[in-house]
Amino acid sequence: MKKILVLNGPNLNLLGVREKSIYGDQSFDQYFGDLKNKYDTLELEYFQSNSEGTIIDKLHEVGFSYDGVVLNAGAYTHTSVAIADAIAAINTPVIEVHISNVHQREAFRHHSYLSKNCKGVILGFGLDSYRLAIESFI
Ligand code: DQA
Repeated sequence: MKKILVLNGPNLNLLGVREKSIYGDQSFDQYFGDLKNKYDTLELEYFQSNSEGTIIDKLHEVGFSYDGVVLNAGAYTHTSVAIADAIAAINTPVIEVHISNVHQREAFRHHSYLSKNCKGVILGFGLDSYRLAIESFI
């Protein structure tokens, strides 16, 4: 069974509560439960942290044994050279995802430090962005 980690960064623990007009009204736990049911031929895991260092530690932990990481690094996407370096350092392919279409939003969200080191980027499909990324590992 392929092992895939879905890794969410800062403020994504508040999905379903936070800025619903942008991020929708479903909690991630609810959505992730649906994903697990749908993809029962994959070993899907979920981890969320609001801390940059913890996200990096998690990438190091899974990055030499898992088959894929689906990463929404939240605002760290636009600021973190350290997460970009962690993605480059590991063997496991990482797909960058975003719920919103960041290119329709503020200019500071248009640049990602991470994209260059990722296998691909999926954004703007709401929570379905995660499912599309998971599909790419099948
Ligand atoms: C986000 C977009 C980021 O710009 C923002 O900081 C987030 C969520 C998204 O999924 O659309 O926290 O990554």
